[in-house]
Amino acid sequence: MAKEYKRYLVTSALPYANGPVHIGHLAGVYIPSDIYTRYLRLRGADVISVCGSDEHGVPITIKARKEGVTPQQIVDRYHSIIKSSFERLGIAFDIYSRTSSPTHRTTASDFFRKLYDEGKFIEKTSMQYYDEDTQTFLADRYIVGTCPHCGNDRAYGDQCEKCGSTLSPDELIDPHSAVSGSVPVKRETKHWYLPLDRYEPFLRDWILESHREWRSNVYGQCKSWIDMGLQPRAVSRDLDWGIPVPVEGAEGKVLYVWFDAPIGYISATKDLTPDWQKYWCSDDTKMVHFIGKDNIVFHCIVFPSMLKAHGGFVLPDNVPANEFLNLEGDKISTSRNWAVWLHEYLDDFPGKEDVLRYVLCANAPETKDNDFTWKDFQSRNNSELVAVLGNFVNRALVLTKKYYDGAVPACGQLTDYDRQTLDEVAQIRASLERNIETYHFREALKDAMTYARIGNKYLADTEPWKVVKTDHERVKTILNIALQLTADLSIAIEPFMPFSAAKIVKMLDIKPLNWDLLGSETLIEAGHRIGEPELLFEKIEDDAIQRQLDKLEAARAANAAAEAANNVTEQKETVSFDDFQRMDIRVSTILAAEKVAKTKKLLKLTIDTGIDKRTIVSGIAEHYTPEELVGRQILVLVNLAPREIKGITSNGMILMAEDATGRLVLLQPEQGVNSGAMIG
Ligand code: 2FM
Ligand code: ZN
Repeated sequence: MAKEYKRYLVTSALPYANGPVHIGHLAGVYIPSDIYTRYLRLRGADVISVCGSDEHGVPITIKARKEGVTPQQIVDRYHSIIKSSFERLGIAFDIYSRTSSPTHRTTASDFFRKLYDEGKFIEKTSMQYYDEDTQTFLADRYIVGTCPHCGNDRAYGDQCEKCGSTLSPDELIDPHSAVSGSVPVKRETKHWYLPLDRYEPFLRDWILESHREWRSNVYGQCKSWIDMGLQPRAVSRDLDWGIPVPVEGAEGKVLYVWFDAPIGYISATKDLTPDWQKYWCSDDTKMVHFIGKDNIVFHCIVFPSMLKAHGGFVLPDNVPANEFLNLEGDKISTSRNWAVWLHEYLDDFPGKEDVLRYVLCANAPETKDNDFTWKDFQSRNNSELVAVLGNFVNRALVLTKKYYDGAVPACGQLTDYDRQTLDEVAQIRASLERNIETYHFREALKDAMTYARIGNKYLADTEPWKVVKTDHERVKTILNIALQLTADLSIAIEPFMPFSAAKIVKMLDIKPLNWDLLGSETLIEAGHRIGEPELLFEKIEDDAIQRQLDKLEAARAANAAAEAANNVTEQKETVSFDDFQRMDIRVSTILAAEKVAKTKKLLKLTIDTGIDKRTIVSGIAEHYTPEELVGRQILVLVNLAPREIKGITSNGMILMAEDATGRLVLLQPEQGVNSGAMIG
């Protein structure tokens, strides 16, 4: 039998404060958690939703070092961007806290100390990489070297971003410190470990036996971790950014970010309410962790083991982790700027918060990775939100305004078709509730939209704009039903599209309705006067979409340029000055250019070298047209031995360079120089 819960504690993965939030985060974690929380609030449940910034960890210190600022400055900057963009999107956390807060420092510290005092950790010394130049131990991220799998010479000690392999620093070829560039040495250091192996029986029973209902991706990952045999996990690090390990002899050591971050859920609750124990320490609290799939092991294995070791805390009832969202066919990447950043979206599409919420839920990666494309965004807006939801609500309101001066008409005799429609409507609620309660938000959104689909069809079939000429009583019933459906929509879509739900409430000029009223036959009384109709959604035109695609194209080009810049070929072996002197390079002028027949790449150029006029065959036909070339000054190696190319004798070589996109570009003097001038 399903357990009876008295209250809900909804947590959303704490985003790292080393960058803004993008659509991948939203689709994976924050839109689902917000839908779930809003639904529970509408039901009148005792629910709190907690989140905050994850402000520790090595990537933050790396970013700070790169920018020449302190880690605190980095997290202050991103905490405020993230917090305000969540608010603007209507993600209604009860609290958005941060792990650099004093409450968190004490909570995490006390948590560690209790486990330490009770002997729940094991202490181990091990050999770790140490940078003698900077006199610091190096976190795996701070060690770079060559990936043994793909040869990438900028792989990190924990991962190769080129081939995606998980690495350990010992696997890197030619490891060196990313901080000083020096070759690190191994040095002994002591750390504390949570012996996860001791919690295996508990985890087996709790997850594998008692939570078979968890999503198959989550359950499957847990099972394979447990079956592989759990190992002790280090919960401290040699770092100067984080919460100090609260024991003697631990100078220079901080809590591992994945030890302190989930405790952030507890400290956020403490910051929210003095009654925090009601949520955390009672068995009848239903705790749900919303996360992305890369966080599964921490939320299902590590954090529950920590909670179990501590004792007195509730365990999650479910961990509905989503898969990943890609963008235009490519993995979203913060470092490659391949993302749609929430704060930029909000600036680019003011008033369209719900469109993003809708598209990300309709396309949520609940069972597999999914792709976000701007074309799909546009088409879902135009053909679903505008054409179905907006259109229905607008027609119901505008017709009421037009025929009855905005007074809700009374419902008269129902026809069979009316009854059939109302029966269909009555079916939706159970499915909508079941889908939300089992974390199937895509299906739930379809259910909510069904009210609008049915409403649209009802108006199209009953044609009140025609009937009004002959039968006012009938039109009154039709519009009454349409307005009740509109009021249903203000409830059903609220968890998904709160801004539009509020707009409907305002246009109907009613008080916000609670969930229990959904599907009631009389949500608005006859005679009630509605407010002014306005459009719920607007069409999104091609140029707005093109601007976004251009932005991505610019990111792609910048990445290609950066990649090319990184791929600079090594310097050739040293030559003597005499060797150089033997090269005769001259400024020359192109007199004529024509394509070499039956080739794609070759142009035959007639050149004035100042010494003579001669022919050079060059492979630049894909980069320049003949017309672009005539009259240009270029640099030519004139004493290269002649070569026969496609039956033409080529006398010399034109000097060119390759740009970031692989295009060949000509080199030319900065200002006009006589043909024949020597280079050197
Ligand atoms: O993966 C991440 O973005 C982590 N910052 C999530 C932390 S969730 C929790 F445990 F705090
Ligand atoms: Zn690799």
